[in-house]
Amino acid sequence: MKQVIEHTCDLLIIGSGAAGLTLALQSANHSKIIVLSKALLNDGSTFYAQGGIAAVFDKKDSIESHVADTLIAGANLCDRSVVEMTARNAKSSLEWLIKCGADFDQELSSKGEQRYHLTQEGGHSHRRILHAADATGKEVQTTLQAQVLKHPNITILERYNAVDIITTEYQDKPHAIGAYVWNREAEKVETIKAKNVALATGGASKVYQYTSNPDVASGDGIAMAWRAGCRVANLEFNQFHPTSLYHPQSNNFLLSEALRGEGAYLQRPDGSRFMDEFDHRGELAPRDIVARAIDYEMKRLGVDCLYLDISHKTDEFIIKHFPTIYRHCLEFGIDITKEPMPVVPAAHYTCGGVMTDQNGATDIAGLYAIGEVAYTGLHGANRMASNSLLECLVFAQAAAKHLAQRIDELPENVEITPWDESMVTDSDEEVVIQHNWHELRLFMWDYVGIVRTDKRLQRAQHRVQLLQQEIHDYYKNFRVSNNLLELRNLVQVAELIIACAMSRKESIGLHYNLDYPETLPDSKPSILTPSLK
Ligand code: FAD
Ligand code: SIN
Repeated sequence: MKQVIEHTCDLLIIGSGAAGLTLALQSANHSKIIVLSKALLNDGSTFYAQGGIAAVFDKKDSIESHVADTLIAGANLCDRSVVEMTARNAKSSLEWLIKCGADFDQELSSKGEQRYHLTQEGGHSHRRILHAADATGKEVQTTLQAQVLKHPNITILERYNAVDIITTEYQDKPHAIGAYVWNREAEKVETIKAKNVALATGGASKVYQYTSNPDVASGDGIAMAWRAGCRVANLEFNQFHPTSLYHPQSNNFLLSEALRGEGAYLQRPDGSRFMDEFDHRGELAPRDIVARAIDYEMKRLGVDCLYLDISHKTDEFIIKHFPTIYRHCLEFGIDITKEPMPVVPAAHYTCGGVMTDQNGATDIAGLYAIGEVAYTGLHGANRMASNSLLECLVFAQAAAKHLAQRIDELPENVEITPWDESMVTDSDEEVVIQHNWHELRLFMWDYVGIVRTDKRLQRAQHRVQLLQQEIHDYYKNFRVSNNLLELRNLVQVAELIIACAMSRKESIGLHYNLDYPETLPDSKPSILTPSLK
């Protein structure tokens, strides 16, 4: 079959959120870059981030304190050297973003000096979160986009869905040399040849029925890296955000932890508060504890939701700090200056992912993973609020430096096997995809959610194996579509989440198993290695 290569570049970046766009900007002066986005450029989680980005800006705060808080929130399962490297580089990476044009909220100090307004979130012992009201992600995404769109070395391909990474043996090691990508407009698979490939595809929270994440969060990068031969780690640690809006017409809208940071409290339907009964830090305990407390109270009382109240603050304060949340709730008839918001937990963040070193490099030469798709060791068993956008920035910068040094080591004249469609036909039963999609997300929510047991995990494993087989057969026989590609990846990631969860015989951080309620004295990351056939 004749080899057709539709696009070539030095660096192919799969994903256009904070991680992908930062890497593109940091590498563009010495490389020709293609950035892929599965949907529109701003459709990732980055755009929806509310609370902010953590960094030490206050003189009374310290890098040691940021490190200590991150380790505590991560239940000491973080890699200390990675936490230190991230906290050390936090301020400079934010200063770079500010130079790119990001406008974070400022205030006047008591001495009349202009300074950044720092908000507070769970797990942080200081105010250390830079933010743009309650729409920080929008500010970050639009700032980066504006820069990327005018850079002559960066080509953007929107509505291109990466299917699989292409690798070859080079100097006795597997090396990434491009990707097969589904062009959603033309409805065909194209080939991109690249000297290096970076996965910046975000997380996998869409594997759960209820999620704060946008539709693109289907774990594609984790599944692609696994199929290509990379190790993955800590996938049992799915973070459930304690407070998403509970309303039949609102699609899991997030109610930022910064609300609690600024004094909002959680209530039962009768108006009584309960967080102090679960943790001495009350509403500002780390997220795993707050989400579990809500789950416990909801099940105990048999109610559909609990409540979050900030109406004791002045109207002016609420509308100034939380304009997006105020407007969104008002659309659904809830005036947060006067009444509490109904809340439920929702899957929010994937703490595990593709294993990388401190440069974002994976097990495969020339393949990087940056941002939520990666497991760097920063988050341990539970991510501290506002450390995620920070990880995107810091690791994209580290990867750009690493990539700049290895341009000469790359394979040049490699053969790429053409994409073969000769054996497939158009799908005859789209309903199979729809059905499996719903089934998967529902049993993941019910059996692999906030509270797990061995029996629930075994049930989920059994079901996921059946779905794997069905989807594998479907993929072999029919032409790809966006839904099929996402489902194939979601099922793969679900299998990995369950495998990590079953291997952990303890409860720690976000992984809570009623059959093993204690934490072991020597907890370790759970690492899975693919056995390539
Ligand atoms: P994303 O921004 O999710 O981007 C992923 C990109 O990959 C998208 O462009 C997508 O189209 C693309 N993609 C995926 N698969 C493919 C494929 N197969 N082919 C081609 N392209 C693909 N974190 C904080 O630190 N502070 C906060 O205040 C905060 N608030 C949040 C609020 C919400 C509602 C949510 C959902 C998350 C929040 N987070 C926050 C988490 C944080 O936003 C994310 O972890 C972070 O933005 C991830 O960035 P990313 O660049 O890794 O991925
Ligand atoms: C939020 O604003 O509550 C989200 C912050 C985060 O996920 O880091």
